[in-house]
Amino acid sequence: MRPRGPIVVVGSGVAGLATALAAAPMPVRVLCRVHDGGGSASALAQGGIAAALDATDGVEAHVSDTLVAGAGHNDVAMVRWLCMNAPAAIEWLAQIGVAFDRDANGRLLLGREGGHGAARVVHAGGDASGAEVIRAMREQAERSSHIQWRGGVDVEALLLRDGRVCAVRTRDARGRCEEIQAAAVVLATGGVGALFARTSNPPGADGSGMALGLAAGAAARDLEFVQFHPTALDVSGGHCLPLITEALRGAGARLRHADGRLLMDGVHPLGDLAPRDVVARRVWQSQNADGRAWLDASAVAGEWARHFPTVLATCLSHGVDPRRDWIPVAPAAHFHMGGLATDGDGRTTVPGLYAVGEVACNGVHGANRLASNSLLEGLLCGRRLGQHLSQSFVGPCTGGSRWVERGEPLWEQPLAELRQRLWEAAGPVREKETLQRAMRQNADWSSRAWQARLAQRILASALERSGSLGSHHRVDSAA
Ligand code: SIN
Repeated sequence: MRPRGPIVVVGSGVAGLATALAAAPMPVRVLCRVHDGGGSASALAQGGIAAALDATDGVEAHVSDTLVAGAGHNDVAMVRWLCMNAPAAIEWLAQIGVAFDRDANGRLLLGREGGHGAARVVHAGGDASGAEVIRAMREQAERSSHIQWRGGVDVEALLLRDGRVCAVRTRDARGRCEEIQAAAVVLATGGVGALFARTSNPPGADGSGMALGLAAGAAARDLEFVQFHPTALDVSGGHCLPLITEALRGAGARLRHADGRLLMDGVHPLGDLAPRDVVARRVWQSQNADGRAWLDASAVAGEWARHFPTVLATCLSHGVDPRRDWIPVAPAAHFHMGGLATDGDGRTTVPGLYAVGEVACNGVHGANRLASNSLLEGLLCGRRLGQHLSQSFVGPCTGGSRWVERGEPLWEQPLAELRQRLWEAAGPVREKETLQRAMRQNADWSSRAWQARLAQRILASALERSGSLGSHHRVDSAA
């Protein structure tokens, strides 16, 4: 027998949509903060989706690159599963109508990104891959009668009955609350980039789902591992910065100092296509020394309007013509490898509560995610979770119940201060004193405000790991 209520999916990025679609014929209610279901980081993804499709490539090579990027901290079985299923994921997306970029013979075009030993990044609309994937999945979801949408709501509490999550409480912009019974609750709310002063994520990637899961007692892991993208457009004073895709460097763009010297010269054998953490630290150091770092894309081969329309339009709208002007770039919080601890089926440690995509940590990305493995993970893990839920038969919720609340939000000014502290202490370069100072400064807020509690968890994890690993770089350690 099932408890009353649909499967409630919180979030409408690639992971949430994949879960909702695969859960058929179970009824699913997708809840999201933005009215039209947009606002996810997935829709902003530019690079594409990694899959070993070329005759000269192979699953083992994709596995190996993923493990090297993840500094060996990955769950190897999950990595193997991900890479093995990547070609089928691309096929499924093509079947539902994703218009991938192809050559004149209809063969998929494969791009090259940092950390990949082969060209294996499938893309769409040039650099608009995420938007195209979300468009097709959204249309598929709208055609699916088992899925219902509710936009413009924030999930602020979970109902636990006998230790099991049985319902959510939402609040809309006018303060109206609604309780929704749930057979299972899936958090697909994305990452924590927007808790940092500079991010390539949208404003909604503020860790709200993770804060909810933590409030319900779910375990978290690897919170110190935050990936910083080296090249966001350096819009001064900006918080959510537009991304300048790494694929541009794959097509020949070079990072430069203000005086024209190449930034990555002598830093790493892969130069501009070195792993993301290496390039991000170099850009960060150069900014601190020279004030700015630049991406020279003037020699990029190919048609801008066809291959990089998003970057072209974004730069032009900020008065930079990337075909001739150097682009001012800055590192920005981009992806959280850590999150709510889950198994491969998305189960958290709290019965009835699942997490998928960036909010979850199943260990696949290790200490640093390989480029273009994130849409892939969201898609495959979402499908796996949806299929699991469509086949799970759980008893009704009985016993004593209590609501667990995410907590109060911080107001604008303290939130801006918190973001700056997190950026300075837990950004691309970290050290003990700065981490401790940020924790002391946040202490007053952390008893009530959920963003501050989450920031404390990230800072504490970064403090605890005294050696450097992957994206976590401690300047005060020899490791
Ligand atoms: C990019 O296009 O540079 C980002 C791709 C990714 O994060 O995997």
